[in-house]
Amino acid sequence: SGANALATAVGKLYFGSATDNPELTDTTYMTYLNSSQHFGQITPENSMKWDATEPEVNTFTFTEGDQIADLAKSNGQILRGHNLVWYQQLPDWVTSNDYNATGLTAVIQNHIAGVAGHYKGQPYSWDVVNEPLNDDGSFRSDVFYDTLGESYISIALNAAHEADPNAKLYINEYNIEYTGTKSTAMQSLVTTLQADGVPIDGIGMESHFIVGEVPTTLVENFQAFADLGVEIAITELDIRMTLPETAALLEQQKQDFYTVVDACLQVSACKGITVWDWTDKYSWVPSTFSGQGAATPFDDPAFDGIVMALKGQ
Ligand code: G3I
Repeated sequence: SGANALATAVGKLYFGSATDNPELTDTTYMTYLNSSQHFGQITPENSMKWDATEPEVNTFTFTEGDQIADLAKSNGQILRGHNLVWYQQLPDWVTSNDYNATGLTAVIQNHIAGVAGHYKGQPYSWDVVNEPLNDDGSFRSDVFYDTLGESYISIALNAAHEADPNAKLYINEYNIEYTGTKSTAMQSLVTTLQADGVPIDGIGMESHFIVGEVPTTLVENFQAFADLGVEIAITELDIRMTLPETAALLEQQKQDFYTVVDACLQVSACKGITVWDWTDKYSWVPSTFSGQGAATPFDDPAFDGIVMALKGQ
């Protein structure tokens, strides 16, 4: 049986995949994506981001986002909204207008009311704030932090709660999957938000890993977040390698996928696993990391690693 069928059988909410609008016309691809045996959840890879949804101030475009949301609905799949506030894929008008704190607060609130309000009731969760931290644990300098300090995070979370009170509100980040400075900083952020009464339900562990370098402290780290009272999810899993593929690399990758999936199974607060697309045909990796690829699991032995972990073998 498929990954989602196995994941739900052992108590997870879903096994899912990211997808992007140009892929939806690929009928072979869609045969797999539409199968809730394989995928119980989808994340729009690009089409709910700021540049896609509010390209001009207060002019909202939902055509592409709606395609993904409608697909999830018709397939009976959980939707993870991605994402509301991020320093990338931000239209120029947000950065170039030199908004003051009051102005930018209104811009954030209006964007979130528009987007999360439009999809109200459908997403299981929203990545409300994406990638707020530097690797040293400090806050990333971007238009939001530079104008509002860390208050932009609570402004965004409060706005998302108002727009869609039943959606789980996440902060999504990379290099926090393992213990260390950045993870500790994210835990401090969670604690601060909770103390301030700001709604925060979950932390997304992106999990863009490298074959042979999967962190060894996943379980311990996931549990540290769970102990704070937030849920977690593996939100963007892929495990890339330097090409060409070899039998040895593929075998290591199979073990690496096993390790990550098994870590989620070991922590009950880990709600589900999303791969950042399931076939190499549509992976973001080769265009970003020259000479690297084969990062997705479904066309490789890696798939067997996922299945073995889900079956407890
Ligand atoms: O939409 C334009 C299109 O009009 C244009 O012709 C084309 C030419 O380059 O570019 C298209 O935009 C691209 C967009 O994907 C849609 O395909 C951008 O150039 C490209 O940079 C963008 O890449 C996305 C990336 O986020 C942007 O930072 C990737 O697909 C997407 O997988 C990636 O996803 C992120 C998560 O959101 C957050 N975590 C990290 C992850 C990987 O970077």
